[in-house]
Amino acid sequence: MADYNKIQDTAAFIKQYISTPPSIGIILGSGLGALTEEVEKEMELSYNDIPGFPVSTVEGHAGKMVFGKLGGKQVMLMAGRFHYYEGYNMQEVTFPVRVMKALGASTLILSNAAGGMNPSFKVGDIMVIDDHINLFPEHPLRGKNDDRLGTRFPDMSEPYDHKLIELAMQAGKEQYLDLKKGTYIGLSGPTFETPAEYKWLHIIGGDAVGMSTVPEAIVAKHGNMRVFALSVITDLGVIGQVHKVSHAEVLAAAAAAEPKVAGLVNALVAKM
Ligand code: HPA
Repeated sequence: MADYNKIQDTAAFIKQYISTPPSIGIILGSGLGALTEEVEKEMELSYNDIPGFPVSTVEGHAGKMVFGKLGGKQVMLMAGRFHYYEGYNMQEVTFPVRVMKALGASTLILSNAAGGMNPSFKVGDIMVIDDHINLFPEHPLRGKNDDRLGTRFPDMSEPYDHKLIELAMQAGKEQYLDLKKGTYIGLSGPTFETPAEYKWLHIIGGDAVGMSTVPEAIVAKHGNMRVFALSVITDLGVIGQVHKVSHAEVLAAAAAAEPKVAGLVNALVAKM
């Protein structure tokens, strides 16, 4: 169960350092931290210095929270997230989203690196997530519900905000990006998928698969936030074309797409 007092304590700690509350929270995935450079930075906190925060351990993650302005909006941005496969429980994985909401953010933007199962995808494509399938073995809302944080049985008929998707597609067009749209399947990892798993994940309706995003999106919806998320396709799990994949390869493909992602999110935020 989410610990209301702990969330409030962490939010109160952060509030001491910021002059304006954020309206948008952003969590950037593996190798996708470049957007941080585009924020007019007002303040920065290392996760290690935020009471209540776990410490990020994965290569490609800087582990800092940045506060400032992006596209004229007040944002708080995390370069580096907490993954379930690292050993954090679901309360820890989603704690930053609770804190963002407690600080006043009404919108959450998420990015991730993902494997593509849709045969029309190529490495480097950007997929706007319009739905998800949750295959994590533990649900972030399992346990006693705290009504101050959200309702017991949250509606999930529109997990990713249609208006934000439309704005992003518009921004993509203006930037000559060939944006894809699709369903993201979130699962635990840390193994990449076997050929049979990729095949199954595609059959059940997945266009991309990764090890994050779904728990954060669920908790944001629980807190009545609008959610926008995108995947960078860093490798392919297309039937008949499954190759060896390494974390280094994922990071390299993410890095190559990073400027496009940063430009897109920047434009989306400006349009909001
Ligand atoms: N599977 C799961 N997670 C991933 C992948 C993948 O193929 N690529 C990047 N993250």
